[in-house]
Amino acid sequence: MAKEKIKILIIDDDPKVSWILSEGLSSGMEFVSARDGIEGIQMVSTEKPDLILLDIKMPGMNGLEVLEKLNRMPSRPEVIMLSGHGETKNIVHSMHLGAAEFINKPFDVKEVEIHINTVLEKNRLKQEVKTLRTELKSRSQYDQFIGDSPKMTQVKNIIEQVADSELTVLIRGESGTGKEIVGRMLHTLSGRSEEQFTKVNCAAIPRDLLEAELFGYEKGAFTGAHKTKPGRFEVANKGSIFLDEIGDMPMELQSKLLQVLEQQEFVRVGGINNIHVDVRIICATNKNLEEAIQRQQFRDDLFYRLNEITVFLPPLRERPEDIPLLVKYFLDRYNSLYDKDYPELSSEAMARMADFSWPGNVRQLENLIKQIVVRGDESIIGDLLSTGITSINPVASTVGDAEVEMSEELVNSYSLKKRVGFAVAREEKKLISEVLNKTNWNRRKASELLEISYRSLLYKIKEYNLNSSK
Ligand SMILES: Nc1ncnc2c1ncn2[C@@H]1O[C@H](COP(=O)(O)OP(=O)(O)OP(=O)(O)O)[C@@H](O)[C@H]1O
Ligand SMILES: [Mg+2]
Repeated sequence: MAKEKIKILIIDDDPKVSWILSEGLSSGMEFVSARDGIEGIQMVSTEKPDLILLDIKMPGMNGLEVLEKLNRMPSRPEVIMLSGHGETKNIVHSMHLGAAEFINKPFDVKEVEIHINTVLEKNRLKQEVKTLRTELKSRSQYDQFIGDSPKMTQVKNIIEQVADSELTVLIRGESGTGKEIVGRMLHTLSGRSEEQFTKVNCAAIPRDLLEAELFGYEKGAFTGAHKTKPGRFEVANKGSIFLDEIGDMPMELQSKLLQVLEQQEFVRVGGINNIHVDVRIICATNKNLEEAIQRQQFRDDLFYRLNEITVFLPPLRERPEDIPLLVKYFLDRYNSLYDKDYPELSSEAMARMADFSWPGNVRQLENLIKQIVVRGDESIIGDLLSTGITSINPVASTVGDAEVEMSEELVNSYSLKKRVGFAVAREEKKLISEVLNKTNWNRRKASELLEISYRSLLYKIKEYNLNSSK
Protein backbone atom coordinates (compact mmCIF):
# COMPACT_ATOMS: atom_id res chain seq x y z
CA MET A 1 0.00 0.00 0.00
CA ALA A 2 1.35 3.45 -0.88
CA LYS A 3 2.48 5.56 2.03
CA GLU A 4 0.06 8.39 2.83
CA LYS A 5 1.24 11.83 1.80
CA ILE A 6 2.51 14.25 4.42
CA LYS A 7 0.10 17.16 4.65
CA ILE A 8 1.63 20.59 5.12
CA LEU A 9 -0.32 23.74 5.91
CA ILE A 10 1.28 26.95 4.70
CA ILE A 11 0.07 30.10 6.43
CA ASP A 12 1.45 33.02 4.45
CA ASP A 13 -0.14 36.10 2.92
CA ASP A 14 2.19 35.82 -0.09
CA PRO A 15 0.68 33.33 -2.59
CA LYS A 16 4.06 32.87 -4.26
CA VAL A 17 5.36 30.95 -1.24
CA SER A 18 2.90 28.11 -1.47
CA TRP A 19 3.27 27.97 -5.24
CA ILE A 20 7.09 27.70 -5.04
CA LEU A 21 6.91 25.03 -2.38
CA SER A 22 4.25 22.91 -4.02
CA GLU A 23 6.17 23.00 -7.28
CA GLY A 24 9.59 22.32 -5.82
CA LEU A 25 9.05 19.86 -2.98
CA SER A 26 8.92 16.10 -3.30
CA SER A 27 5.79 14.33 -4.43
CA GLY A 28 5.41 12.75 -0.99
CA MET A 29 4.05 16.03 0.32
CA GLU A 30 0.67 17.58 -0.10
CA PHE A 31 -0.02 21.29 0.48
CA VAL A 32 -2.94 23.30 1.74
CA SER A 33 -2.63 27.02 2.26
CA ALA A 34 -4.19 29.84 4.21
CA ARG A 35 -3.73 33.56 3.52
CA ASP A 36 -4.02 34.79 7.08
CA GLY A 37 -3.83 33.64 10.69
CA ILE A 38 -7.54 33.23 11.34
CA GLU A 39 -8.07 31.05 8.29
CA GLY A 40 -4.89 29.12 9.20
CA ILE A 41 -6.09 28.33 12.72
CA GLN A 42 -9.42 27.07 11.38
CA MET A 43 -7.64 24.88 8.84
CA VAL A 44 -5.57 23.23 11.58
CA SER A 45 -8.83 21.71 12.86
CA THR A 46 -10.40 20.94 9.51
CA GLU A 47 -7.34 19.77 7.55
CA LYS A 48 -5.36 18.15 10.39
CA PRO A 49 -1.96 18.87 8.82
CA ASP A 50 1.20 17.02 9.91
CA LEU A 51 3.20 20.24 9.91
CA ILE A 52 2.71 24.00 9.60
CA LEU A 53 4.90 26.52 7.79
CA LEU A 54 4.04 29.84 9.37
CA ASP A 55 5.01 33.26 8.11
CA ILE A 56 5.77 35.86 10.76
CA LYS A 57 4.92 39.10 8.97
CA MET A 58 1.28 39.03 7.94
CA PRO A 59 -1.45 41.67 7.95
CA GLY A 60 -3.86 41.26 10.88
CA MET A 61 -2.67 38.55 13.24
CA ASN A 62 1.08 38.05 12.91
CA GLY A 63 2.78 34.65 12.99
CA LEU A 64 3.78 34.88 16.65
CA GLU A 65 0.19 35.60 17.68
CA VAL A 66 -1.00 32.69 15.56
CA LEU A 67 1.54 30.44 17.28
CA GLU A 68 0.31 31.56 20.70
CA LYS A 69 -3.25 30.65 19.69
CA LEU A 70 -2.13 27.28 18.32
CA ASN A 71 -0.41 26.56 21.63
CA ARG A 72 -3.79 26.70 23.36
CA MET A 73 -5.05 23.75 21.35
CA PRO A 74 -4.92 20.41 23.21
CA SER A 75 -2.36 19.24 20.70
CA ARG A 76 -0.96 20.94 17.63
CA PRO A 77 1.32 19.94 14.76
CA GLU A 78 4.95 21.05 14.73
CA VAL A 79 5.48 24.56 13.40
CA ILE A 80 8.33 25.90 11.24
CA MET A 81 8.51 29.70 11.12
CA LEU A 82 9.24 31.60 7.90
CA SER A 83 10.56 35.11 7.98
CA GLY A 84 12.62 37.81 6.34
CA HIS A 85 16.29 38.34 7.23
CA GLY A 86 17.64 40.00 10.35
CA GLU A 87 14.78 39.37 12.75
CA THR A 88 16.72 37.82 15.62
CA LYS A 89 14.16 39.01 18.14
CA ASN A 90 11.46 37.04 16.36
CA ILE A 91 13.61 33.92 16.21
CA VAL A 92 14.09 33.96 19.97
CA HIS A 93 10.44 34.71 20.60
CA SER A 94 9.15 31.99 18.32
CA MET A 95 11.54 29.43 19.81
CA HIS A 96 10.20 30.33 23.25
CA LEU A 97 6.74 29.72 21.94
CA GLY A 98 7.79 26.24 20.88
CA ALA A 99 8.44 26.58 17.14
CA ALA A 100 10.52 23.65 15.93
CA GLU A 101 12.59 25.51 13.34
CA PHE A 102 13.15 28.89 11.76
CA ILE A 103 13.73 29.40 8.03
CA ASN A 104 14.82 32.67 6.48
CA LYS A 105 13.22 34.03 3.32
CA PRO A 106 14.14 33.83 0.53
CA PHE A 107 14.67 30.13 1.01
CA ASP A 108 16.08 27.31 -0.98
CA VAL A 109 13.33 24.74 -1.60
CA LYS A 110 15.62 21.78 -0.97
CA GLU A 111 16.69 23.30 2.34
CA VAL A 112 13.03 23.59 3.34
CA GLU A 113 12.51 19.94 2.49
CA ILE A 114 15.41 18.90 4.72
CA HIS A 115 14.02 20.97 7.60
CA ILE A 116 10.55 19.50 7.16
CA ASN A 117 11.87 15.95 7.18
CA THR A 118 14.10 16.54 10.22
CA VAL A 119 11.28 18.09 12.23
CA LEU A 120 8.84 15.32 11.30
CA GLU A 121 11.37 12.62 12.15
CA LYS A 122 12.17 14.21 15.52
CA ASN A 123 8.47 14.46 16.25
CA ARG A 124 7.90 10.83 15.30
CA LEU A 125 10.67 9.73 17.67
CA LYS A 126 9.32 11.95 20.44
CA GLN A 127 5.84 10.43 20.06
CA GLU A 128 7.27 6.93 20.00
CA VAL A 129 9.26 7.50 23.20
CA LYS A 130 6.18 8.97 24.85
CA THR A 131 3.98 6.02 23.91
CA LEU A 132 6.59 3.50 25.03
CA ARG A 133 7.13 5.34 28.30
CA THR A 134 3.41 5.42 29.08
CA GLU A 135 3.01 1.75 28.21
CA LEU A 136 6.00 0.76 30.29
CA LYS A 137 4.86 2.84 33.21
CA SER A 138 1.36 1.45 33.27
CA ARG A 139 2.58 -2.11 32.74
CA SER A 140 5.07 -1.91 35.61
CA GLN A 141 2.41 -0.32 37.81
CA TYR A 142 -0.07 -3.08 37.11
CA ASP A 143 2.65 -5.67 37.64
CA GLN A 144 2.68 -4.66 41.27
CA PHE A 145 -1.06 -4.46 41.68
CA ILE A 146 -2.17 -8.03 41.69
CA GLY A 147 -5.67 -9.37 41.13
CA ASP A 148 -7.75 -10.29 38.14
CA SER A 149 -11.00 -11.15 39.87
CA PRO A 150 -13.99 -9.26 38.43
CA LYS A 151 -13.93 -6.87 41.41
CA MET A 152 -10.26 -6.03 40.94
CA THR A 153 -10.68 -5.69 37.19
CA GLN A 154 -13.35 -3.13 37.89
CA VAL A 155 -10.97 -1.28 40.23
CA LYS A 156 -8.26 -1.27 37.57
CA ASN A 157 -10.69 0.09 34.99
CA ILE A 158 -11.64 2.99 37.24
CA ILE A 159 -7.98 3.75 37.93
CA GLU A 160 -7.27 3.80 34.23
CA GLN A 161 -10.17 6.12 33.54
CA VAL A 162 -9.47 8.69 36.24
CA ALA A 163 -5.69 8.61 36.79
CA ASP A 164 -4.87 11.23 34.21
CA SER A 165 -7.55 13.70 35.29
CA GLU A 166 -7.76 16.37 37.94
CA LEU A 167 -10.63 14.64 39.73
CA THR A 168 -10.32 14.16 43.47
CA VAL A 169 -10.37 10.47 44.26
CA LEU A 170 -11.47 8.88 47.50
CA ILE A 171 -10.09 5.39 48.05
CA ARG A 172 -12.05 3.27 50.49
CA GLY A 173 -11.44 -0.18 51.84
CA GLU A 174 -10.48 -2.12 54.93
CA SER A 175 -6.98 -2.02 56.31
CA GLY A 176 -4.43 -3.78 54.11
CA THR A 177 -6.54 -3.84 50.93
CA GLY A 178 -4.05 -1.75 48.95
CA LYS A 179 -5.32 1.82 49.30
CA GLU A 180 -1.85 3.29 49.34
CA ILE A 181 -0.75 1.33 46.28
CA VAL A 182 -3.78 2.67 44.43
CA GLY A 183 -3.00 6.22 45.58
CA ARG A 184 0.53 5.92 44.20
CA MET A 185 -0.71 4.39 40.96
CA LEU A 186 -3.12 7.27 40.41
CA HIS A 187 -0.17 9.63 40.70
CA THR A 188 2.25 7.61 38.58
CA LEU A 189 -0.27 7.17 35.80
CA SER A 190 -1.11 10.89 35.74
CA GLY A 191 0.50 13.80 33.94
CA ARG A 192 1.95 14.81 37.31
CA SER A 193 4.14 11.72 37.60
CA GLU A 194 7.38 13.65 37.23
CA GLU A 195 6.42 15.75 40.25
CA GLN A 196 6.26 14.77 43.90
CA PHE A 197 3.85 12.35 45.52
CA THR A 198 3.36 13.64 49.05
CA LYS A 199 1.82 11.35 51.62
CA VAL A 200 0.32 12.63 54.86
CA ASN A 201 -1.19 10.28 57.40
CA CYS A 202 -3.85 12.37 59.10
CA ALA A 203 -4.19 9.86 61.96
CA ALA A 204 -0.49 9.73 62.79
CA ILE A 205 -0.03 13.46 63.36
CA PRO A 206 -1.42 14.88 66.61
CA ARG A 207 -4.43 17.02 65.82
CA ASP A 208 -2.94 20.27 67.11
CA LEU A 209 0.06 19.87 64.79
CA LEU A 210 -1.81 18.69 61.73
CA GLU A 211 -2.87 22.13 60.55
CA ALA A 212 0.71 23.46 60.66
CA GLU A 213 1.97 20.30 58.98
CA LEU A 214 -0.51 20.54 56.12
CA PHE A 215 -0.68 24.27 55.59
CA GLY A 216 2.60 25.52 57.06
CA TYR A 217 3.04 28.36 59.53
CA GLU A 218 4.45 31.86 59.80
CA LYS A 219 7.27 32.76 62.13
CA GLY A 220 5.86 33.47 65.59
CA ALA A 221 2.48 31.83 64.85
CA PHE A 222 2.82 29.77 68.04
CA THR A 223 5.42 28.99 70.66
CA GLY A 224 8.28 27.24 68.94
CA ALA A 225 7.53 28.66 65.48
CA HIS A 226 10.97 30.23 65.13
CA LYS A 227 10.79 30.53 61.40
CA THR A 228 8.26 30.40 58.61
CA LYS A 229 7.74 26.89 57.32
CA PRO A 230 5.82 25.82 54.23
CA GLY A 231 3.29 23.04 54.73
CA ARG A 232 2.86 19.81 52.84
CA PHE A 233 0.40 21.38 50.41
CA GLU A 234 3.02 23.90 49.33
CA VAL A 235 5.69 21.25 49.03
CA ALA A 236 3.30 19.15 46.96
CA ASN A 237 2.68 21.99 44.49
CA LYS A 238 2.33 20.67 40.91
CA GLY A 239 2.26 17.09 42.23
CA SER A 240 -0.27 14.97 44.10
CA ILE A 241 -1.01 14.83 47.81
CA PHE A 242 -2.24 11.60 49.38
CA LEU A 243 -4.25 12.30 52.52
CA ASP A 244 -4.29 8.95 54.26
CA GLU A 245 -6.87 8.20 56.98
CA ILE A 246 -8.87 11.27 55.97
CA GLY A 247 -11.65 10.07 58.29
CA ASP A 248 -9.42 11.05 61.22
CA MET A 249 -9.06 14.65 60.15
CA PRO A 250 -10.44 17.00 62.84
CA MET A 251 -13.60 18.94 61.90
CA GLU A 252 -11.86 22.34 62.14
CA LEU A 253 -9.37 21.32 59.49
CA GLN A 254 -11.97 19.78 57.26
CA SER A 255 -13.34 23.21 56.35
CA LYS A 256 -9.85 24.43 55.48
CA LEU A 257 -9.38 21.40 53.27
CA LEU A 258 -12.69 22.10 51.58
CA GLN A 259 -11.43 25.57 50.75
CA VAL A 260 -8.29 24.13 49.16
CA LEU A 261 -10.43 21.78 47.13
CA GLU A 262 -12.68 24.56 45.96
CA GLN A 263 -10.25 27.41 45.44
CA GLN A 264 -6.83 25.77 45.50
CA GLU A 265 -5.98 28.37 48.14
CA PHE A 266 -5.27 28.53 51.85
CA VAL A 267 -3.58 30.65 54.49
CA ARG A 268 -0.63 29.45 56.58
CA VAL A 269 -1.16 29.18 60.35
CA GLY A 270 -0.63 32.72 61.68
CA GLY A 271 -0.55 34.12 58.15
CA ILE A 272 -2.78 36.53 56.27
CA ASN A 273 -1.93 35.99 52.62
CA ASN A 274 -3.66 33.44 50.46
CA ILE A 275 -1.30 30.88 49.04
CA HIS A 276 -2.25 29.36 45.73
CA VAL A 277 -1.31 25.78 44.95
CA ASP A 278 -1.90 23.42 42.08
CA VAL A 279 -2.22 20.05 43.78
CA ARG A 280 -4.17 16.93 42.91
CA ILE A 281 -5.81 15.52 46.02
CA ILE A 282 -6.18 11.79 46.61
CA CYS A 283 -7.68 10.59 49.91
CA ALA A 284 -8.00 7.24 51.60
CA THR A 285 -9.89 5.92 54.55
CA ASN A 286 -11.02 2.68 56.12
CA LYS A 287 -13.66 4.51 58.15
CA ASN A 288 -17.34 4.54 57.44
CA LEU A 289 -17.61 8.21 56.51
CA GLU A 290 -21.42 8.11 56.21
CA GLU A 291 -21.56 7.05 59.85
CA ALA A 292 -19.01 9.71 60.80
CA ILE A 293 -21.29 12.29 59.16
CA GLN A 294 -24.21 11.05 61.26
CA ARG A 295 -22.08 11.39 64.38
CA GLN A 296 -21.10 14.89 63.22
CA GLN A 297 -17.45 13.93 62.97
CA PHE A 298 -17.19 14.46 59.26
CA ARG A 299 -18.53 17.35 57.18
CA ASP A 300 -21.03 16.24 54.60
CA ASP A 301 -20.03 18.99 52.14
CA LEU A 302 -16.43 17.77 52.27
CA PHE A 303 -17.59 14.20 51.82
CA TYR A 304 -19.53 15.05 48.65
CA ARG A 305 -16.60 17.04 47.31
CA LEU A 306 -14.11 14.23 47.99
CA ASN A 307 -16.47 11.70 46.61
CA GLU A 308 -16.16 12.85 43.00
CA ILE A 309 -14.73 9.45 42.26
CA THR A 310 -14.66 6.64 44.77
CA VAL A 311 -12.52 3.56 44.39
CA PHE A 312 -13.75 0.75 46.64
CA LEU A 313 -11.12 -1.85 47.33
CA PRO A 314 -12.81 -5.16 48.06
CA PRO A 315 -11.66 -7.13 51.11
CA LEU A 316 -9.62 -10.21 50.27
CA ARG A 317 -12.32 -12.58 51.57
CA GLU A 318 -14.62 -11.30 48.82
CA ARG A 319 -12.17 -12.25 46.09
CA PRO A 320 -10.53 -15.52 47.14
CA GLU A 321 -9.85 -16.26 43.47
CA ASP A 322 -7.04 -13.67 43.67
CA ILE A 323 -5.23 -15.58 46.47
CA PRO A 324 -3.22 -17.94 44.19
CA LEU A 325 -1.94 -14.98 42.14
CA LEU A 326 -1.02 -13.04 45.26
CA VAL A 327 0.72 -16.07 46.80
CA LYS A 328 2.78 -16.52 43.67
CA TYR A 329 3.61 -12.83 43.50
CA PHE A 330 4.77 -12.65 47.13
CA LEU A 331 6.66 -15.96 46.92
CA ASP A 332 8.60 -14.63 43.92
CA ARG A 333 9.18 -11.31 45.60
CA TYR A 334 10.45 -12.65 48.92
CA ASN A 335 12.38 -15.53 47.40
CA SER A 336 14.33 -13.04 45.38
CA LEU A 337 14.60 -10.51 48.23
CA TYR A 338 15.95 -13.07 50.73
CA ASP A 339 17.77 -15.09 48.13
CA LYS A 340 15.64 -18.18 48.85
CA ASP A 341 14.05 -20.74 46.66
CA TYR A 342 10.82 -21.67 48.36
CA PRO A 343 8.61 -23.59 45.90
CA GLU A 344 4.82 -23.48 45.64
CA LEU A 345 2.60 -24.02 48.67
CA SER A 346 0.81 -27.36 49.06
CA SER A 347 -2.80 -27.69 47.96
CA GLU A 348 -3.87 -28.10 51.63
CA ALA A 349 -2.19 -24.83 52.50
CA MET A 350 -3.86 -23.13 49.55
CA ALA A 351 -7.23 -24.54 50.60
CA ARG A 352 -6.83 -23.22 54.16
CA MET A 353 -5.94 -19.85 52.82
CA ALA A 354 -8.95 -19.78 50.51
CA ASP A 355 -11.21 -20.42 53.53
CA PHE A 356 -9.59 -17.88 55.82
CA SER A 357 -11.33 -14.55 56.42
CA TRP A 358 -8.17 -12.35 56.18
CA PRO A 359 -9.11 -9.53 58.55
CA GLY A 360 -5.78 -7.87 57.68
CA ASN A 361 -6.35 -8.47 53.95
CA VAL A 362 -3.42 -8.45 51.51
CA ARG A 363 -1.00 -7.09 54.13
CA GLN A 364 -1.71 -10.14 56.30
CA LEU A 365 -1.25 -12.51 53.38
CA GLU A 366 1.98 -10.78 52.41
CA ASN A 367 3.36 -11.10 55.96
CA LEU A 368 2.42 -14.75 56.05
CA ILE A 369 4.20 -15.56 52.79
CA LYS A 370 7.22 -13.55 53.94
CA GLN A 371 7.43 -15.69 57.06
CA ILE A 372 7.04 -18.92 55.13
CA VAL A 373 9.88 -17.91 52.83
CA VAL A 374 12.14 -16.79 55.68
CA ARG A 375 11.48 -19.90 57.75
CA GLY A 376 11.34 -22.23 54.80
CA ASP A 377 8.30 -23.96 56.26
CA GLU A 378 4.63 -23.68 55.43
CA SER A 379 3.41 -25.63 58.46
CA ILE A 380 3.26 -22.33 60.35
CA ILE A 381 0.15 -21.46 58.34
CA GLY A 382 -2.09 -23.26 60.84
CA ASP A 383 -0.69 -21.35 63.86
CA LEU A 384 -0.59 -18.05 62.17
CA LEU A 385 -4.07 -18.20 60.78
CA SER A 386 -5.49 -19.28 64.13
CA THR A 387 -3.75 -16.57 66.19
CA GLY A 388 -4.26 -14.01 63.45
CA ILE A 389 -0.74 -12.68 64.07
CA THR A 390 1.22 -12.66 60.88
CA SER A 391 3.81 -10.13 61.82
CA ILE A 392 7.19 -11.11 60.42
CA ASN A 393 8.95 -10.29 63.59
CA PRO A 394 6.99 -10.66 66.80
CA VAL A 395 10.07 -10.34 68.99
CA ALA A 396 11.21 -7.17 67.36
CA SER A 397 7.76 -5.63 67.43
CA THR A 398 7.50 -6.07 71.19
CA VAL A 399 10.66 -4.11 71.67
CA GLY A 400 9.38 -1.48 69.25
CA ASP A 401 11.85 -2.07 66.48
CA ALA A 402 10.17 -3.85 63.63
CA GLU A 403 12.91 -2.92 61.18
CA VAL A 404 15.33 -5.47 62.63
CA GLU A 405 14.88 -8.75 60.79
CA MET A 406 15.03 -11.93 62.85
CA SER A 407 17.84 -14.14 61.64
CA GLU A 408 16.94 -17.49 60.17
CA GLU A 409 18.92 -19.44 62.82
CA LEU A 410 16.93 -17.76 65.54
CA VAL A 411 13.65 -18.43 63.78
CA ASN A 412 14.46 -22.11 63.45
CA SER A 413 15.84 -22.58 66.92
CA TYR A 414 14.00 -23.22 70.18
CA SER A 415 15.00 -19.78 71.28
CA LEU A 416 13.33 -18.83 74.54
CA LYS A 417 13.47 -15.21 73.52
CA LYS A 418 11.55 -15.95 70.34
CA ARG A 419 8.90 -18.05 72.02
CA VAL A 420 8.39 -15.52 74.77
CA GLY A 421 8.34 -12.74 72.21
CA PHE A 422 5.57 -14.48 70.34
CA ALA A 423 3.52 -14.96 73.52
CA VAL A 424 4.05 -11.33 74.47
CA ALA A 425 2.91 -10.22 71.02
CA ARG A 426 -0.23 -12.30 71.38
CA GLU A 427 -1.01 -10.78 74.78
CA GLU A 428 -0.21 -7.35 73.54
CA LYS A 429 -2.65 -7.71 70.66
CA LYS A 430 -5.37 -8.98 73.00
CA LEU A 431 -4.93 -6.15 75.47
CA ILE A 432 -4.78 -3.45 72.82
CA SER A 433 -7.98 -4.75 71.18
CA GLU A 434 -9.68 -4.85 74.54
CA VAL A 435 -8.74 -1.27 75.41
CA LEU A 436 -9.66 -0.02 71.94
CA ASN A 437 -13.08 -1.61 72.21
CA LYS A 438 -13.52 -0.24 75.71
CA THR A 439 -12.72 3.30 74.55
CA ASN A 440 -14.87 2.91 71.45
CA TRP A 441 -11.75 3.15 69.33
CA ASN A 442 -10.73 6.50 70.72
CA ARG A 443 -7.04 6.02 70.03
CA ARG A 444 -5.90 8.91 72.17
CA LYS A 445 -7.75 7.63 75.24
CA ALA A 446 -6.56 4.11 74.54
CA SER A 447 -2.92 5.16 74.34
CA GLU A 448 -3.28 6.93 77.70
CA LEU A 449 -4.78 3.86 79.33
CA LEU A 450 -2.12 1.62 77.83
CA GLU A 451 0.53 4.11 78.88
CA ILE A 452 2.14 4.10 75.47
CA SER A 453 2.55 6.95 73.01
CA TYR A 454 -0.17 7.71 70.50
CA ARG A 455 2.24 6.97 67.70
CA SER A 456 3.21 3.55 69.01
CA LEU A 457 -0.43 2.67 69.41
CA LEU A 458 -1.08 3.51 65.76
CA TYR A 459 1.91 1.48 64.80
CA LYS A 460 0.72 -1.52 66.77
CA ILE A 461 -2.80 -1.27 65.38
CA LYS A 462 -1.32 -1.64 61.94
CA GLU A 463 1.17 -4.28 63.00
CA TYR A 464 -1.54 -6.50 64.47
CA ASN A 465 -4.07 -5.71 61.75
CA LEU A 466 -6.63 -4.46 64.23
CA ASN A 467 -9.69 -2.70 62.95
CA SER A 468 -12.78 -1.24 64.52
CA SER A 469 -15.23 -3.54 62.73
CA LYS A 470 -13.83 -6.64 64.45
N1 LIG B 1 -3.39 -5.88 44.97
C1 LIG B 1 -2.21 -5.92 45.57
N2 LIG B 1 -1.14 -6.43 44.93
C2 LIG B 1 0.08 -6.50 45.52
N3 LIG B 1 0.32 -6.08 46.78
C3 LIG B 1 -0.69 -5.56 47.46
C4 LIG B 1 -2.01 -5.44 46.90
N4 LIG B 1 -2.82 -4.89 47.83
C5 LIG B 1 -2.05 -4.65 48.90
N5 LIG B 1 -0.78 -5.04 48.70
C6 LIG B 1 0.33 -4.98 49.67
O1 LIG B 1 -0.26 -5.06 50.95
C7 LIG B 1 0.32 -4.13 51.83
C8 LIG B 1 -0.74 -3.19 52.35
O2 LIG B 1 -1.18 -2.35 51.30
P1 LIG B 1 -1.51 -0.82 51.54
O3 LIG B 1 -0.54 -0.21 52.48
O4 LIG B 1 -1.69 -0.17 50.21
O5 LIG B 1 -2.92 -1.00 52.28
P2 LIG B 1 -3.91 0.07 52.89
O6 LIG B 1 -5.26 -0.23 52.33
O7 LIG B 1 -3.36 1.43 52.68
O8 LIG B 1 -3.93 -0.30 54.43
P3 LIG B 1 -4.14 0.63 55.74
O9 LIG B 1 -5.59 1.04 55.75
O10 LIG B 1 -3.82 -0.28 56.85
O11 LIG B 1 -3.21 1.78 55.61
C9 LIG B 1 1.42 -3.43 51.08
O12 LIG B 1 2.66 -4.04 51.36
C10 LIG B 1 1.04 -3.64 49.64
O13 LIG B 1 2.18 -3.67 48.86
MG1 LIG C 1 -2.60 2.81 54.04
